[in-house]
Amino acid sequence: MDAPQTDVLSIEEIPVDEDDDLGSIALVTIQRPDKLNSLNAEVMSSLKEMVTWAEATESIRVVVLTGAQPNEPPEGKRAKPNAFVAGADITEFVGMQSDAIRLKFTDNAVEALWDLSKPTIAMVDGFALGGGCEIACSCDLRIASERSRFGTPEVNLGLIPGYGATQRLTHLIGYGKTMEMIMTGEMIDASEAHRIGLVNHVCESEDLLDYTLNMARIIGSKSSYTLRFGKQTIRASLDLGLTEGIAYEAEVFASLFGSKDQEIGVHAFVNREKPRWEHK
Ligand code: COA
Repeated sequence: MDAPQTDVLSIEEIPVDEDDDLGSIALVTIQRPDKLNSLNAEVMSSLKEMVTWAEATESIRVVVLTGAQPNEPPEGKRAKPNAFVAGADITEFVGMQSDAIRLKFTDNAVEALWDLSKPTIAMVDGFALGGGCEIACSCDLRIASERSRFGTPEVNLGLIPGYGATQRLTHLIGYGKTMEMIMTGEMIDASEAHRIGLVNHVCESEDLLDYTLNMARIIGSKSSYTLRFGKQTIRASLDLGLTEGIAYEAEVFASLFGSKDQEIGVHAFVNREKPRWEHK
């Protein structure tokens, strides 16, 4: 299946390892820089198609999601700011009523991305606001440039977040900080986002791509089979109580014994070899 490129979404397939056949990292870029990569209907449907493609394409090991850099401004005009995603496209809210919005926000691309069984990384360089902050929260990891800013400013539109921040952000940064972000609508900078656990790493913007791809390469070199169960089991902690969660983990851990990649991994360690996973 070919990668579903559209006017608003580009996909580059980057080898996990130049010298080895370990599959690819999908570098997915939202291409609406003039509107700060805000999420209009076309972006959302393209993202959903991308998720379907990434899930079905065995060679895709890790998905990195980012926003396009600003275009050169026309003569005499100021450059647009850098953005990961500045939220839902607010112009699409004009005149909208609950029934239509409910349809639009149910079964959306943010949930599709959350449900992708493969590892996902949000590479944030600039504004990650509203739906942008939420789409980053629906990825497994977040890596940001030092000039990035995060926020949930929906309160300024007479709204609350609609792509999961009241739930996923709470799990990431805790109840108190989520209350503060959603109630004030104020932005926080990258170092504060790092301090409160909203982002995993912060680096200079010129290093962001290398840093992110390096992490994607490390993850992409592991067994995709093992990673899938790791992700699924960590996710279970969001829905299960501690006792049930520990029991669930023990069951998955035990079930991995007998998998080919567990045999390969243990054998490689004992023999001081590099593991050659069955599920690359
Ligand atoms: N939806 C639609 N268009 C958006 C947008 C959004 N969420 N965010 C930015 N844009 C558009 C602007 O309308 C502007 O378009 P134009 O140049 O055709 O007029 C362009 O992107 C650049 O944004 P601008 O506001 O001029 O940049 P700025 O540097 O002055 O301000 C922000 C940057 C991010 C502070 C400001 O754009 C903003 O507050 N955006 C909305 C954020 C938000 O509320 N998101 C949650 C939505 S639920």
